[in-house]
Amino acid sequence: MSTNIFWQESPIGKTERQKLLNQKGCVVWITGLSGSGKSTLACSLSRELYTRGKLSYILDGDNLRHGLNKDLGFKAEDRVENIRRVGEVAKLFADAGLICIASLISPYRKDRDASRDPKGLYKLARAGKIKGFTGIDDPYESPLNCEIELKEKEGECPSPVAMAEEVIAYLEDKG
Ligand code: PPS
Repeated sequence: MSTNIFWQESPIGKTERQKLLNQKGCVVWITGLSGSGKSTLACSLSRELYTRGKLSYILDGDNLRHGLNKDLGFKAEDRVENIRRVGEVAKLFADAGLICIASLISPYRKDRDASRDPKGLYKLARAGKIKGFTGIDDPYESPLNCEIELKEKEGECPSPVAMAEEVIAYLEDKG
């Protein structure tokens, strides 16, 4: 960290921002394998919140790799830096008063079976055409104590809206 840098306080406090927006900022971090439905859930959640008059913003791993994280690849240290940066950005968004929905693989537990292959990526990874693919030849450590686990019910995957409602019920419960 550089020296001689000082924290500049904002002229408008967090409570004032919350009052203006009529909501409390927070971060909903969605983790999971590629193709597991993270983006679908993030979009459904964002839409459901919108219909309830709550403003959210999605930080999508794939999208951020077009700009903020375009210098990063998929080596372990790049993924760690990817998650660190997005974590910092998510913190800023939440502080601004938004419900920030971060949707990234975030494979390593310390920082935070392929069953679907909508982009054909697992097929390519298994054929050796993509190296270091999460879940194939790169690890995915599932969370030990996540706050919400969206599971199949009676062998069926809940709809994106049903999952979004489960997340919203949790957020409401937490104020
Ligand atoms: S990470 O692990 O959290 O840093 O990954 P993330 O920033 O979420 O980016 C995941 C998307 O990148 C595409 N992709 C890969 N994923 C995993 N491993 C490798 N090697 C890889 N190469 C490209 C893929 O489209 C991921 O998108 P999602 O939405 O997760 O399917």
